[in-house]
Amino acid sequence: MTAQTIAPVRRAVRLRPLALSDAPRVRRWMADAGLIRFTVVVPGPEHGPLAPYTTAEADQYLDTLVNDRSRRSFAIELHGTHVGNIGIKEWQPGAASAECFIEIGEADARGHGVGASALRQLLVIAFTELGLDEVRLGVFAFNAQAIALYRKLGFVDRGRYGWHWADGRYHEINAMSLERWRFR
Ligand SMILES: CC(C)(COP(=O)(O)OP(=O)(O)OC[C@H]1O[C@@H](n2cnc3c(N)ncnc32)[C@H](O)[C@@H]1OP(=O)(O)O)[C@@H](O)C(=O)NCCC(=O)NCCS
Repeated sequence: MTAQTIAPVRRAVRLRPLALSDAPRVRRWMADAGLIRFTVVVPGPEHGPLAPYTTAEADQYLDTLVNDRSRRSFAIELHGTHVGNIGIKEWQPGAASAECFIEIGEADARGHGVGASALRQLLVIAFTELGLDEVRLGVFAFNAQAIALYRKLGFVDRGRYGWHWADGRYHEINAMSLERWRFR
């Protein structure tokens, strides 16, 4: 990303519904060990090491993001280019609470405010269109960048999910949540 594209990031970030035609980028991102070490949970070493997704696995993942009725998934676009995915999961009509997820697949788009802008837009959708009172998430305790983002938007710590296997060892997963009244 050039300095020119980074500067006006907040105005340049848009969400649009994710589609099966987004497969080429999602395949590339899910084959990137540098991304999935932050986003994929393996219960324990008996399930094998965390491996880059095959094309079939990435397509299955995208199909879930797009077609699972308990999800609302969006492509994050920066200046019209798809750089990541974001959404709500574990949602049902009338529910007061659901989870969110975010993954910026293009490594050079991270750390420039794209995540903050995209998550703000998702939270507006969650608290208005979906009528949620609370948005929850789980984040690896080692993921300082993501935790900083969530705290910046008002998420607070809610304890631990437990230990999960990633990156060749066990890591703790932090539970965080944001109530609607706290969103700023
Ligand atoms: C985590 C992620 C979504 C954050 O999005 P981002 O666009 O990189 O983050 P932003 O640039 O909006 O930064 C948000 C805050 O994070 C913090 N931050 C930014 N870069 C950081 C870094 N390298 N290290 C630690 N904190 C950092 C800052 O506090 C920043 O706020 P500020 O700019 O006002 O100081 C993105 O980096 C990502 O997709 N990472 C890989 C996948 C992942 O971890 N997903 C989340 C799984 S729970």
